[in-house]
Amino acid sequence: MSDVIAQLISLGHQYEEGPEIFKGVSFAIEKGSFQFLTGPSGSGKSSLLKMLYLGLRPTWGSIHLFGEDTLKIKPLLLPLLRQKIGVVFQEFKLLDHLKVVDNVSLPLRVRGLDSRRGYKQSQELLDWVGLGDCLESYPSSLSGGQKQRVAIARAVITRPQLLLADEPTGNVDDDMAMKLVYLFEELNRMGTAVLIATHNQRILKTFPHPQLVIKDGTIHTPKKELS
Ligand SMILES: Nc1ncnc2c1ncn2[C@@H]1O[C@H](COP(=O)(O)OP(=O)(O)OP(=O)(O)O)[C@@H](O)[C@H]1O
Ligand SMILES: [Mg+2]
Repeated sequence: MSDVIAQLISLGHQYEEGPEIFKGVSFAIEKGSFQFLTGPSGSGKSSLLKMLYLGLRPTWGSIHLFGEDTLKIKPLLLPLLRQKIGVVFQEFKLLDHLKVVDNVSLPLRVRGLDSRRGYKQSQELLDWVGLGDCLESYPSSLSGGQKQRVAIARAVITRPQLLLADEPTGNVDDDMAMKLVYLFEELNRMGTAVLIATHNQRILKTFPHPQLVIKDGTIHTPKKELS
């Protein structure tokens, strides 16, 4: 069985009213891997993640997810692939009218799990991210870092095979940023492949995971510097 869970092949993209951002991007995400995706603002990190969670169709090239060519399979099957992917969005996308605990359990309820079990699992995860005291709060009363952690709990509650996180430390101080990456590493140790878009230099220097760098519309993997 293949160890590759996602593969981008010679992918290119040009926004209709915008720039050509990719000119032949190829890379693979392997089971259990942990990688950073980096590059300057506007280089295309969010766009690339969007393509991986099937929110944006590339102009050319192909995206294989869990062994399926996503541009060729029946559209009806796409949600099944999508369900295996957890996403932490750059701008959180929490639902302000739902309590924290209900935001986190929502993906389970969408899948038909009964609300009591959903509540319990949500509670456990919120404890795990250090928000056990905020179950009944509403997102609007939380700090940026707390919202990030709610978004992370919601993204992982379905135990996704792949977690995509877009600047998940963009709204927190350096110490909290480190803690969040430790959380992702813990999740990774439990078997989830992780791809984090970030331009936080301290994180990139601290954590020795492979880096995919978007430069001039393609992906580079810098060689490790010997020190
Ligand atoms: N919907 C859109 N329509 C047209 N152009 C877009 C659209 N979304 C993004 N772009 C452009 O595509 C390029 C890549 O944007 P993207 O948001 O993917 O970059 P990024 O690396 O995530 O940036 P940042 O680090 O600021 O989050 C930018 O030039 C941006 O202006
Ligand atoms: Mg972005």
